[in-house]
Amino acid sequence: MKGKKAILMAAACLVLTSCQGKPKEEDKSSIRIGISLYRGEDTFINNIRGELEEKAKEYEQSRGIKVTLDIQDAKGSQNVQNDQVERFISLGCDVVCINPVDRMDASLMIDRAMTAGVPVVFFNRQPVEEDMNRWDQLYYVGVDAKETAVLQGWIVVDLYRKDPRALDINGDGVVSYVLLEGESSHQDSLIRTEWSIQTLKDGGVPIEKITGGIANWERSQASALMEQWLDAWPDTIELVVSNNDDMALGAIDALERAGIRDVNVVGIDGTIPGTEALEAGKLLGTVSANKEVYAGAIMELAASCALGQELPDSYPLTDGAYYWVLQEIMTFKEN
Ligand code: GAL
Repeated sequence: MKGKKAILMAAACLVLTSCQGKPKEEDKSSIRIGISLYRGEDTFINNIRGELEEKAKEYEQSRGIKVTLDIQDAKGSQNVQNDQVERFISLGCDVVCINPVDRMDASLMIDRAMTAGVPVVFFNRQPVEEDMNRWDQLYYVGVDAKETAVLQGWIVVDLYRKDPRALDINGDGVVSYVLLEGESSHQDSLIRTEWSIQTLKDGGVPIEKITGGIANWERSQASALMEQWLDAWPDTIELVVSNNDDMALGAIDALERAGIRDVNVVGIDGTIPGTEALEAGKLLGTVSANKEVYAGAIMELAASCALGQELPDSYPLTDGAYYWVLQEIMTFKEN
């Protein structure tokens, strides 16, 4: 059992966790945090980056501790990310925050951090459990992928129960859908796909899949796929279920180019462009994790680790290592 788990059990119901690897440095007046993003152009990650910068400023002002953030973009390359982590450590970062490029391949970065005694806060792309269990100074901040998917499914189930014809546009008793998926190896894509569709079935929506494809979270890839599908199945698609907002927006781009207005599209993320599309009535709904809480949890965990302090009670960790950010449904239509 990991050290942190044992401590949590001993503390019974008290939510009290501390970053233990480092000695307390109560008089430390500045901290340096290295952050590596898997791909800076990713809209959701970009939104989180913006919030992280805000949270660092807030932390500085409220605690009187200077926070230096060194944010690097790995541009989709695990080798580049490995080098970035190496550099953060050699520059003397007190903690590193990693949004892994390849969540299955975090071991080299973990080796390096463990050797140097530098704690790691992973986020958004969850390393495998085996890696997470290697050291009690490894943390993860993210959302529960099944919860996301079930909430997304409920957006559609709710609408169907209130107004079946809003979804079954041609009135044939079946809702014909297409599915846009994120990266094939990402836990979020796999779990979201499975549980969104399962929730539609469990909720009694008579769905029929026309087709689906991988668009790697990207708007342009989704737009190209949707254009092909609209050509191949004209006047057939009634619903687009997308693993994230950017791909949902890509589908909407293709629908707009084809002059189609009544097809419902659901996304996930509540990104800034996603929310704008929602407000414009183009997106039926999305599932949003509070980005301030998300970035706040990364910042608080990182700073606590850097200072060797206890994590505030407001950030309870599961199994001493995981902080799950709560999510909510956002819809345009009054479902
Ligand atoms: C997902 C998010 C996607 C994309 C991906 C990157 O959680 O919904 O939009 O940002 O993470 O790992």
